[in-house]
Amino acid sequence: MAPSASSDLTDHRRALAGVSLAGLFARDPRRFERLSVRWGEWLVDLSRERLGAETLPLLAARARSIGLEGWIAALFAGEKVNLSERRPALHTALRQQDDTPLVVDGRDVVPAIRAAQARMKALAQSVRAGSRRGATDRPIRAVVNIGIGGSDLGPRLVCDALGSSADAAGVDVAFVSNVDPEHLARTLVRLDPASTLFVATSKTFTTQETLANAASARAWLAKGLGSAADTARHFVAVTGNAAAARAFGVADDDILPLWDWVGGRYSLWSPAGIAIAVRLGWEGFAELLSGAAAMDAHFRSAPLEQNLPAVLGFVGWWNARLLGHPDRVVVPYAQALELLPAFLQQLVLESNGKRVARDGAPVAGATTSALWGAPGTNGQHAFFQWLHQGTREAPVEFIVPVRAAHPLGQQQSLLVANALAQAQALLEGRTEETIRPELAQHGLAGAELDAGVAARVCPGNRASTTMLIPELDARRLGELIALYEHRTFVEAILHGINPFDQFGVELGKTLAAPIVKALIDGVPLPAATDAATRALVAHVQALSAPGKQ
Ligand code: F6P
Repeated sequence: MAPSASSDLTDHRRALAGVSLAGLFARDPRRFERLSVRWGEWLVDLSRERLGAETLPLLAARARSIGLEGWIAALFAGEKVNLSERRPALHTALRQQDDTPLVVDGRDVVPAIRAAQARMKALAQSVRAGSRRGATDRPIRAVVNIGIGGSDLGPRLVCDALGSSADAAGVDVAFVSNVDPEHLARTLVRLDPASTLFVATSKTFTTQETLANAASARAWLAKGLGSAADTARHFVAVTGNAAAARAFGVADDDILPLWDWVGGRYSLWSPAGIAIAVRLGWEGFAELLSGAAAMDAHFRSAPLEQNLPAVLGFVGWWNARLLGHPDRVVVPYAQALELLPAFLQQLVLESNGKRVARDGAPVAGATTSALWGAPGTNGQHAFFQWLHQGTREAPVEFIVPVRAAHPLGQQQSLLVANALAQAQALLEGRTEETIRPELAQHGLAGAELDAGVAARVCPGNRASTTMLIPELDARRLGELIALYEHRTFVEAILHGINPFDQFGVELGKTLAAPIVKALIDGVPLPAATDAATRALVAHVQALSAPGKQ
């Protein structure tokens, strides 16, 4: 049965209705201390969320009553927590720091992980050292990851976030995901076929976008190197479907494994992270893993009240399910985390965008809020107007690395000050009492004064979380990503859903097949195709007809 929000929590929410955040602060002078959680140098401030003194204890009690601690233990133990696909979800094993056996279906998976890591390390080192050579014996100097969804977003986020701090060893690392030919074309324009290595990353090796881009990349190689060249020297595959990679033409020695117990959106820690190991060097990748492992250890052992992923998950569930917020806004005050919102969209929405519980019963209420965001301070000059004066509240997560990777003058202080000021502004707003005398002084009166005041009032009383992270290096980024993974898991358990499947994605893929055939081969659409799709396909065909292109 899908857990409903327990009556204790529902009553508690009713009791809090109408109490402002300022009122909650006024009630409790120690609110900040009570509602902030520290872990090493991390500080997560929940005091500006719409939580009463009893909310977190009630949420922790509910989590215990539905067995969250047992679910956490099951996740780490390799039990089949992905019930609909009868699989474990063992991303944590990929960053395990010791060789403690972890048995899945009667077999210890740790030796296989170590063997794959040794192959990743050797490949990354050979590329960085210039000893991996292409068909014409030129050293590889560019690596292009071709993959989409989890086979793209995680590695791309990490390379983008840390790339400027790392020694790239003269290797250009690029990512191509979109089947839009523009993505590959724009990437290839700067590359030399003789020194480019493509990594086709696809757990299934059936993903249409990835296969189409890999085929086009191979054609580009053949054109640039001559059709007799051994293009296989320019391809590596990371996949759970070695047969398909082999059939595509990748040599056995260049096929790295992706196991079915790693979900796509949790795969950056696996050989799917080979681009990271090339970009940061093996040491950088190992640091990322060890940061994630530190967060794993914290999640596994800290009491729920002091457990960062747990408390953040409680607040996420409370905001979405009990308070009914349709949005959740993530604003990293770090340009290096520009891609974090896109990564989290897949992690959170593909995991928890569900409507039925594990047993198939409808969830009695909303599951996850929609997630979006952009880096601060840029977002301040775009959607923050909506946050401050729009018609509905959207809780904001401010993610703030305190120390700069590349300090420049006072800029890091400006950045951090802006983050703190925005959270303060959302809380305090700007009242009529302060605005009216100012405008009156400027000579406004009557209806014009009233309208001017109304336009300037910011209601405040808008919720946010602030996370202060000491700095953004490989270790901290590993901690941050693992934090969000576990938090998403906590929310799923509170909703009673399975975060590890994504059957909704399949429907669009299935329906694309006949449209592809209609557009490429002129095959008539199936009789049951709806009228709008038929009309649109006809219009596309007319626009694509010879002479129109
Ligand atoms: O978007 C659906 C999805 O199945 C993701 O979960 C996955 O990360 C992505 O497609 C790519 O899949 P694959 O790695 O099999 O190409």
